[in-house]
Amino acid sequence: MRFISAAMVVLLVLVLGVCAFIWSGLYNPGADNPHWKVTHTILDIARERAIEHYSEDIAVPANLNEPQMILKGAGHYAAMCANCHLAPGKNNSEIRPGLYPQPPNLSVASVEPREAFWVIKHGVKMSAMPAWGGSHDDATIWNMVAFLQKLPGMSPEQYREILAKAPADDDGEAEAGAHGHEGHAHHHD
Ligand code: HEC
Repeated sequence: MRFISAAMVVLLVLVLGVCAFIWSGLYNPGADNPHWKVTHTILDIARERAIEHYSEDIAVPANLNEPQMILKGAGHYAAMCANCHLAPGKNNSEIRPGLYPQPPNLSVASVEPREAFWVIKHGVKMSAMPAWGGSHDDATIWNMVAFLQKLPGMSPEQYREILAKAPADDDGEAEAGAHGHEGHAHHHD
């Protein structure tokens, strides 16, 4: 009995301590204030396991190699992703140094198609990675996945050539008509 009440008191003090810390405003949420290493490790493991888990049953289209898909994906990538994820010949951007966590450089790192699809569609909470599924259908997201399979190792010349052939990313305008938001974000490039 004595042991149980002692444990309860310790637990209560801990809970009150945590509440006091949260309420104090001392936790610094700045993007320029890195997590502790242990927090970072836990978040990394949780994210990686979750992406594996949630993408497990996604059926990958058989035609990911189709040139038309890759071209459309290239146009979308350049317009919506390269600022954060870089591209061949583009080694930095204004937004990138301030991002925490740092977006992977997708012109170097390859991502498994199922996992890429899930992350692009749903985004990653408390990071800068948006859920593009809110404004793009699955077919459009698969186009980007198709392009991402070709991107690592592409030379700056190859990247320029593929972009020159890519159809313009014009869905920004269509969305502006439909929902009246983010219409100017990317239709010009
Ligand atoms: C505002 C910056 C930003 C933009 C724009 C952005 N991303 Fe991301 N993205 C991130 C960040 C940050 C992460 C890493 C999240 C993390 O580590 O928790 C990420 C992660 C990813 C990943 C997961 C990589 C992996 O190894 O698991 C993929 C794939 C991805 N983004 C694709 C895209 C695509 C495609 C677009 C464009 C449609 C895009 N992103 C636009 C910031 C961005």
